[in-house]
Amino acid sequence: MVLRVENLYKSFKDNPVLKNVSFQLQAGEILAIIGPSGAGKTTILRCVNNLTNCDRGTIEVDGMYLCRDDGSRSIYAKQDEMLQIRKKLGLVFQNFNLFPHMSVMQNIVEAPINVFGTPREDAFKKANELLKMLGLTDKADSYPFELSGGQKQRVAIARACALNPKVMCLDEPTSALDPELREGIALTIEDLAKEGIGILLITHDMAFAKRVAHRVIFIDDGKIIEGSSKEEFFGNIEDNRIRKFMAL
Ligand SMILES: Nc1ncnc2c1ncn2[C@@H]1O[C@H](COP(=O)(O)OP(=O)(O)O)[C@@H](O)[C@H]1O
Ligand SMILES: [Mg+2]
Repeated sequence: MVLRVENLYKSFKDNPVLKNVSFQLQAGEILAIIGPSGAGKTTILRCVNNLTNCDRGTIEVDGMYLCRDDGSRSIYAKQDEMLQIRKKLGLVFQNFNLFPHMSVMQNIVEAPINVFGTPREDAFKKANELLKMLGLTDKADSYPFELSGGQKQRVAIARACALNPKVMCLDEPTSALDPELREGIALTIEDLAKEGIGILLITHDMAFAKRVAHRVIFIDDGKIIEGSSKEEFFGNIEDNRIRKFMAL
């Protein structure tokens, strides 16, 4: 198991957004979290990546506690431990969030060198491997504005892979792309999973979830309604909220 989320709660002011969310992710597994807009999907990713603090709950990443519920509140890891945990997590945002003033290569090596202290030579070696794997070798010196949407997305994935994460989180990876690029992303995600990375895929794109996920969780109004294997999920949908979302 590379990720365990247990009894997660999160409110913004007095608006409860996550209401007791629990799930686990295995190494090499592709887990899709699907659900309507506003359901709390991005908030889950933000909690898992420590971009926002939860109110209650436990998040365990590859054997380390990002936060741990002690029965009355959630206690967060100390700074040095948090840095180790962050290394285990890769995150690709919906709009890619590349640094616009940096080349593709600089985008990929920036955090390893400046945040995590990876030796420059090792960081560039890894970056070159990733660019090769993602078919971007000739784009190393390009700037984000010179890239297509699909290329930007692959750079964002390369950047998120630069520290050999155990868990890769992708927020709506198909939403900013033309439909014909979907298959390419599906293949890239499958390659990452084959290397043993656990993939947490947030999407409201049912067709894409069906294409790529091993397991599907449906979330509505901050609660998980159903979680099951893809075959079970798409073969037998009884909950009316899910049926409504899928327009059945
Ligand atoms: N920083 C924030 N401050 C206040 N409310 C927020 C914030 N982020 C998200 N929310 C609210 O939390 C709910 C869930 O949002 P989000 O996790 O982005 O949903 P999803 O990704 O499923 O569309 C929404 O009602 C949204 O308005
Ligand atoms: Mg979202």
